[in-house]
Amino acid sequence: MSAPKLLSANFGSEVSHRLDHYLERGGYDEARRVIAEVEPEQVIDQVKRAKLRGCGGAGFPTGMKWSFIPKGGDKPVYLAVNADEGEPGTFKDKYILTYEPHMLLEGMLICGKAVGCHKAYIYVRGEFDLPIERMEQAVAEAYERGYLGADVMGTGFPFDVVVHRGGGAYICGEETALLESLEGKPGHPRLKPPFPALVGLHGCPTVINNVETLALVPHITRLGADAFLKLGVESQGGTKLYCVSGHVNRPGIFELSPSVTLRALIDDYAGGMRDGAKLKAVIPGGLSAPVLRPDELDTEGSFEGLKQVNSMLGSAGLIVMDESVCMVEAMHTIIQFYAHESCGQCTPCREGTGWMRRIVERILAGHGRAEDTANLDSIARKITGTTICPLGDAAAWPVMGFVEKFRDEFEYFCKNGRSMVSGEKVGA
Ligand SMILES: Cc1cc2nc3c(=O)[nH]c(=O)nc-3n(C[C@H](O)[C@H](O)[C@H](O)COP(=O)(O)O)c2cc1C
Repeated sequence: MSAPKLLSANFGSEVSHRLDHYLERGGYDEARRVIAEVEPEQVIDQVKRAKLRGCGGAGFPTGMKWSFIPKGGDKPVYLAVNADEGEPGTFKDKYILTYEPHMLLEGMLICGKAVGCHKAYIYVRGEFDLPIERMEQAVAEAYERGYLGADVMGTGFPFDVVVHRGGGAYICGEETALLESLEGKPGHPRLKPPFPALVGLHGCPTVINNVETLALVPHITRLGADAFLKLGVESQGGTKLYCVSGHVNRPGIFELSPSVTLRALIDDYAGGMRDGAKLKAVIPGGLSAPVLRPDELDTEGSFEGLKQVNSMLGSAGLIVMDESVCMVEAMHTIIQFYAHESCGQCTPCREGTGWMRRIVERILAGHGRAEDTANLDSIARKITGTTICPLGDAAAWPVMGFVEKFRDEFEYFCKNGRSMVSGEKVGA
């Protein structure tokens, strides 16, 4: 499944973040050409035909998102780059910020030309010290040498970039919470509609895109839409960064065609299971994606492929678990996270995640009740679709998946007061 390393060829390099190194590789040539010579509609059309899908989680078609920005309005258009990378199991964007900050800036410039935007914010996860330092250094270098500022590369096109250290909460990665946080308020998601394309940052039209999404854009204009599409699958152009963690021999980031199957990703790229252990379960798209069993891994690692097994590619963070994992304990780790990260705005999410956490804790303590497994599933189902933002769904889907696919482990724990895997109870 060989694919060119569009984004990851320089991950780990000591020099790739410097402007000179990027220029030696033809960096900013595309931004210069597009800004000077290409009409905005043509850029959007090219991104649409390339079938670039958003890499932040939802896989929304990027060209279509850009086309929603009103043309010729009297309000400024903003670009907000989502570099919050809070989805557990996901660790790709920080590598782009650290090793290819200029590639991201170039993608942002091209997006700016396409949607008529002259001011962009990069909202970076607060804990990312080195990525923030590298990004700030890249922005400063780009300003000094005229790749950003009032007259980008002598084209007359103005473009300003601000690096913003994030608020330190998972919810701030949700696009409207991110906008609230950028405006200096608590990261509470907004009701949609209106969508950010019409009413976004400071009430103005705003594009919100993930780091990986934007870093791919210069490759689309350089290669052309058809060649970019061919690197992927029919429904999704380009390469994809997969993050693999957990019980594998070689965890890491792999840039591949989305035609790769999850099984090949684990066995051929991530080195197979650690210590020859038997694979038990895979969370395929960041923590929120419904869990898969070993017999479901011949699935294509694309947005459409994962839908076919009722899961999702999400942020392409695979968490691989071997047979030593007690799924009730794993569920506890997951639900603790969502209960902690729920912003509390919507009752079903705020109360539901708390109830699910308390039920799992009761089971782990050996006091599970016969109805607890069914109750977990029922509470999860009552959260889905009832909240302002998808954090509620993100908390409910893993619970529904775990209970459906590993029901015997939950029922065993409730009945016997101990884990089917370790033979022990866990909580106090
Ligand atoms: C709770 C929650 C957290 C999210 N966290 C992130 C994140 O850390 N990074 C990201 O790019 N998208 C995140 N998203 C998705 C964004 O809301 C949005 O869909 C994305 O930034 C759009 O960019 P894209 O179209 O390029 O994927 C999150 C969504 C939710 C519901």
